[in-house]
Amino acid sequence: KNNTYILAIESSCDDTAAAVLLNDKTLSNVVAGQAVHKQYGGVVPELASRAHQQNIVPVVHEALRLANVKKEDLAAIAFTSGPGLMGSLLVGTSFAKSLAMGLNIPLIDVNHMQAHILAHFIEEENYSKPTFPFLAMTISGGHTQIVKVSNYFEMEVLGQTIDDAVGEAFDKSAKILGLPYPGGPLIDKYAKLGNPKAYKFTKPKVDGLNFSFSGFKTAVLYFYQREIAKDPQFVTNNLNDICASIQYTIVEILMDKIKKAVKETGIKQVAIGGGVSANSGIRDALKTAEGKYGWKTYIPKFEYTTDNAAMIGIVGYLKYSAENLENTGFKETRVMAQ
Ligand code: KG4
Ligand code: ZN
Repeated sequence: KNNTYILAIESSCDDTAAAVLLNDKTLSNVVAGQAVHKQYGGVVPELASRAHQQNIVPVVHEALRLANVKKEDLAAIAFTSGPGLMGSLLVGTSFAKSLAMGLNIPLIDVNHMQAHILAHFIEEENYSKPTFPFLAMTISGGHTQIVKVSNYFEMEVLGQTIDDAVGEAFDKSAKILGLPYPGGPLIDKYAKLGNPKAYKFTKPKVDGLNFSFSGFKTAVLYFYQREIAKDPQFVTNNLNDICASIQYTIVEILMDKIKKAVKETGIKQVAIGGGVSANSGIRDALKTAEGKYGWKTYIPKFEYTTDNAAMIGIVGYLKYSAENLENTGFKETRVMAQ
């Protein structure tokens, strides 16, 4: 098991992705995005599955080619089994199953959200790996969770959103402002040029370590309607300040909860994962917390923030090399030897 090549496939939402890992190192990490959803202001499941069907073969070919690895050298195939859109998942799942069967190698299923967390264990220069236990905040278009990670396969959800995910809060706010999907990265871009205290949005009051973002989205909508009625040019003239204020509030909501989680658990190691961990506001806030509160924080390399297959590959590798899979305590573990 010294030189383990693993092909990983991810197709849970609107990115078709494949990666090849040599042990815990990424040899290739290919992502084909889907521009088709832009005009609809969100992911259209039916169109996503169709695009996956078109992309899956070329993306896998490209991942193998860039890694300079032949199919015959693969030790196993890892794939995302969920959570995600069923039609999208089916494309990657069926492809992975058939290929593993054809090559007569093990097939390893991977939970997408665990992968966002375990992406921190991909070997990368200048990035250190968390030690157990640590807290992970998974922040994406579909999820917002605080997870206590006691081991690779021992995770406990301490809190999560009771309505929208934080990525949706970014994307829906952006949509209100007339920005295209996905609006999160655009809010981030304009926020860098604006004043974060220009406008004030109230923060939701939610018990414990749970989150809520649906009220925030409504607050942005009412704010928009009120201001645009007074001045039709309001958004155009103040876009940077509006985006900076929205981002500031969202980052505060996230930081309030993770601070609470640190206090309650006494764990001062904090990792983030998922698409929103690309956000400059949350990255800066975590870096500041290192000096301010003595935390150790882990921020993923940019290419491992949004959906990718390398993160699926590292979980595949960790499971493949686990001494005893039954002892990983991870009930979704299932390796099917053909
Ligand atoms: O993890 P991901 O690629 O897909 C899901 O599993 O959902 O996350 C996508 C989400 C989108 O909502 C997108 O707007 C958001 O991540 N996102 C960002 C940034 N980059 C991506 N949100 C804020 N700032 C960013 N820089
Ligand atoms: Zn994701």
